[in-house]
Amino acid sequence: MAAVGEAPGSAVRVGCIGAGRMARGVLGGLIISGKVPAQNISVSAPSDSNLHYFRDRGCQTSHSNLAVLYEADIVFLATKPHVIPQVLMEIASAITPQQVIVSMAAGLSLRTLEKLVPDGVRILRMCPNLPCVIQEGSVVFSRGSCAGQQEADMLKGLLSVCGMCEEVPESYIDIHTGLSGSGVAYVYLFAEALTEGAVKMGMPSAVSSRIAAQTLLGAAKMILETGEHPAKLRYDVCTPGGTTIHGLHELEKGGLKATVMNAVEAATKRAKELDQQ
Ligand SMILES: NC(=O)c1ccc[n+]([C@@H]2O[C@H](COP(=O)([O-])OP(=O)(O)OC[C@H]3O[C@@H](n4cnc5c(N)ncnc54)[C@H](OP(=O)(O)O)[C@@H]3O)[C@@H](O)[C@H]2O)c1
Repeated sequence: MAAVGEAPGSAVRVGCIGAGRMARGVLGGLIISGKVPAQNISVSAPSDSNLHYFRDRGCQTSHSNLAVLYEADIVFLATKPHVIPQVLMEIASAITPQQVIVSMAAGLSLRTLEKLVPDGVRILRMCPNLPCVIQEGSVVFSRGSCAGQQEADMLKGLLSVCGMCEEVPESYIDIHTGLSGSGVAYVYLFAEALTEGAVKMGMPSAVSSRIAAQTLLGAAKMILETGEHPAKLRYDVCTPGGTTIHGLHELEKGGLKATVMNAVEAATKRAKELDQQ
């Protein structure tokens, strides 16, 4: 098998079963970066509705999951969680010892996944988020019992182009789903609220939505680049008696922080429930 992570020009063959939003997010990052040549990527889905995105970019596409397995060194599973058992039943007996399987499915534990494949299959579990497609994603992953450092390094090497990619204890993965997989949507809701607040005060939404996005981007970069806790950065913006503390008081009255904490908790619990279904 080719060493993943050595591209551009790497000969690693990447397969993906499922062609929806997250497949596009993760593989889109690989394609845009040129990390893996498009002709080395094969993708399957039952219908053509999502495959055209990959076909248009020079990837191989198929309605056969087995065809993708035969063409790949590393195979991502990117169907909805409830479809994964059916997919693994279909491909399990054809997985070779040289191949690596990586599940993106929310909730499905490594224990559950390993029960669905023959003993010895090298399997990893990852949780991505949608900004992978613009190479600003957050990905965490854990290894199954047969996957070693080599497979972890391989996945990290491959996905480093998608943004942040870290190996974590498996117990963090459902939390990452609640924090970051779903968290992207919370941030969009916050951006929408900022935009509508400005519209209410008389700024056109085309301007205010761009300013809201730039505000989120700048604030996020400040957290990453200073390494400071968000509470410290927030404190620094609050002039005594100034505008920000008046605005923050309204957010506190509306219970923003507790509501967001509840959202992370609810999404994490929902991810855990998916493994029990
Ligand atoms: N969306 C996120 O932000 C996010 C974040 C973290 C993790 N995830 C995980 O990523 C996975 C995919 O989510 P998604 O949002 O990308 O879903 P999605 O947009 O609904 O895409 C699902 C894909 O699976 C395909 N599919 C359905 N049945 C199949 C089968 N039997 N064999 C092969 N492909 C099949 C669908 O085919 P068609 O194209 O024919 O419909 C579609 O391409 C989920 O397990 C989810 O938990 C998603």
